[in-house]
Amino acid sequence: MTARPAAGPPDGPEGWNLVRRVVCPGSFDPVTNGHLDIISRASRLYDEVIVAVLINISKQTLFTTDERVEMLREATSAYPNVRVARFHGLIVDFCKENDVSAIVRGLRAVSDFESEQMMSQMNYRLAGVETLFMTTNPLYAFLRSSLIKEIATYGGDVSGLVPDQVLERLRARLGPGAPSSG
Ligand code: PNS
Repeated sequence: MTARPAAGPPDGPEGWNLVRRVVCPGSFDPVTNGHLDIISRASRLYDEVIVAVLINISKQTLFTTDERVEMLREATSAYPNVRVARFHGLIVDFCKENDVSAIVRGLRAVSDFESEQMMSQMNYRLAGVETLFMTTNPLYAFLRSSLIKEIATYGGDVSGLVPDQVLERLRARLGPGAPSSG
């Protein structure tokens, strides 16, 4: 199947990527039901969705890359056209290497827009990679991985906001009796 290079504007019907493959990139530390809402909706719109987990080398994460990938694989196992990968470096390079047509990002609120707009314009400037925005389901508009971790650290209830297996891992990592909990 011929693939149109992700870089540069399209030059006509010849060479267009016939597989409509998009990427949902992120840190996913951990995946929340808000992320899953965007991933599942993207999977209904496109042939293939790659969930690309950033290997954070400069940022401390609660979960290792392997753990974040594992949680996402479990949480997306019901979607046959979704696969989970990891990446480091620039997302536009990942797009080029994987024949990805566009990046999909969720917008929770106007406050997300400013940084997302900059990233999308930079990614287009760097490699002609488009970004498509989906507004988050209002049920999850207040969800953020960092907030989930904070609440779980202090024993708050985050059930219903993350998949059950993520809930279990949060309890094991942060709850009473967890190795690092004083
Ligand atoms: O879940 P996050 O932390 O909001 O995701 C941000 C992410 C991973 C999409 C963004 O930081 C990213 O694409 N990083 C990879 C490095 C890169 O390409 N930086 C330039 C972006 S314009």
